[in-house]
Amino acid sequence: MAAPSIGEDEIGAATRVLRSGMLAAGPAVKEFEEEFAEYCCTEQAIATNNGTSALHATLSCLGICPGNEVIIPDFSFIATATCVSMCGATPVFADVDERTFNISPESVLEAITPGTRAVIGVHLFGQPFQCDPLREICDDHDLFLIEDAAQSHGARYRGKMTGGLGDAACFSFYPTKNMTTGEGGMITTGDRRFADRVRAFINHGQSRKYVHEFLGYNYRMTDIAAAIGSVQLRRLDAFNRKRIENAGRLDRCLGKTAVLAPFRETGVGHVYHQYVTRVTGGCGIGRDNFARELRARGIDTAVHYPTPIHLQPVYQGVSNPVPCPVSERLSNEVLSLPVHPRLTTDQIEYMCSTIEELF
Ligand SMILES: Cc1ncc(COP(=O)(O)O)c(C=O)c1O
Repeated sequence: MAAPSIGEDEIGAATRVLRSGMLAAGPAVKEFEEEFAEYCCTEQAIATNNGTSALHATLSCLGICPGNEVIIPDFSFIATATCVSMCGATPVFADVDERTFNISPESVLEAITPGTRAVIGVHLFGQPFQCDPLREICDDHDLFLIEDAAQSHGARYRGKMTGGLGDAACFSFYPTKNMTTGEGGMITTGDRRFADRVRAFINHGQSRKYVHEFLGYNYRMTDIAAAIGSVQLRRLDAFNRKRIENAGRLDRCLGKTAVLAPFRETGVGHVYHQYVTRVTGGCGIGRDNFARELRARGIDTAVHYPTPIHLQPVYQGVSNPVPCPVSERLSNEVLSLPVHPRLTTDQIEYMCSTIEELF
């Protein structure tokens, strides 16, 4: 399903850091931050040790606290919600668009209360969410707009890079992502004062050596991870081109079957972090059976995500004010096919011919 592309350049970069003796606070993190900010066309980038800590730091430094509500899509990875809970605030789950799987602006409007402070949109599976309508809603209601860009490195919305569309954005560099540092994260923003607060927050709330202004954490990225990240960033566009090419081949294959290929919104540059199909009732084969048949023929698949967040055990007992029927339906229909850049032409062709034979 996913295989990180690590080559000699990444190994060389990590080895140079190891030989330098500066493993944690050397120059590699600063270099990676500058390169990443330039790539996303944002003024500031702050590296963290993972995407979840990037989200937690962002919400905390925006002042999200107990009593506040943050609206998030019900259909996402759990960290989009738990970062809100880590601040003592309440995640409110909005439904998603049936075609793009992204947060529905109409559902966000329904979810707003006097306690709402922010909206987190997720550029799910590599496809940017509808930033313009959400920006308008957030401006009208005086809310922060945060991008969960964990799955969208290099994706564009109306020509602009994700990472520069909200008040702040959070990336993840987990090994399955479009680029990796092993574990790692990044916060991008155009707000220098917010960035300064985040830099302190991820470093024990420290303003000067051994002066701790507020409660902070150790969420720093290592120099080893950053050195790998700089190399991966240089390769990111090529990785994404290959993902898009693989997705195009899969689209043509699914066009001959009843399985729905991922919908691609106009005006966005999708980077196919995942290639997520829908196996609906009309397909003649259930989603889980389809997955089993593929597995029996040596093809891995995955379900992203099998449970809407509001139904996760961790959120049982929390009553959600907004219905999420689309998210509930999608969790029973979605099936991800491999799309990563290390797939060979033979593997893609084998996957396509196998799928066609099953229909
Ligand atoms: C949408 C989304 N948000 C947040 C995260 C959290 O990132 P990390 O695993 O680096 O903590 C992920 C990672 O899987 C993700 O997919």
